[in-house]
Amino acid sequence: MSIHLKLNGTERELEVDPEMPLLWALRDVLGLTGTKYGCGQALCGSCVVHLDGEAVRACVTPVSRAAGRHVTTIEGLSADGSHPLQKAWVELAVPQCGFCQSGQIMTAAALLAKKPKPTDNEIDQSMSGNLCRCGTYTRIRCAIKKAAGLPHE
Ligand code: FES
Ligand code: FES
Repeated sequence: MSIHLKLNGTERELEVDPEMPLLWALRDVLGLTGTKYGCGQALCGSCVVHLDGEAVRACVTPVSRAAGRHVTTIEGLSADGSHPLQKAWVELAVPQCGFCQSGQIMTAAALLAKKPKPTDNEIDQSMSGNLCRCGTYTRIRCAIKKAAGLPHE
């Protein structure tokens, strides 16, 4: 089946099984490997991308759901790594192994798009489904606050 979508601002046509997880289509068909496979069961958040601006878990989202819609991956969050979250992530040296980080940033980006000045509680609630085995949670929270122009440690 042919699926038409707008990926990181570019029109794309895919010949894939409509039930294929969006994550597979992104990584294996389109070669965008910034989005990671962690659990495959919507439990870890490493595969988060935006579908029309909403954070979704690409491992459990059939590619057919993206038909006719805008998909944004970490590769398309900004043209040159200049999104405030990306800059804050670098400045605060957030990642450790890095595996969870694109999902963390995409989840945080969806939050800031809706709530430019989130409270601590809103940050915690939005990020609670994104796991980090390296325990970078404190730096993630600081970086979100920094990107939002809020006081941070
Ligand atoms: S790989 Fe999708 S939530 Fe874990
Ligand atoms: S930085 Fe290693 S899992 Fe999060």
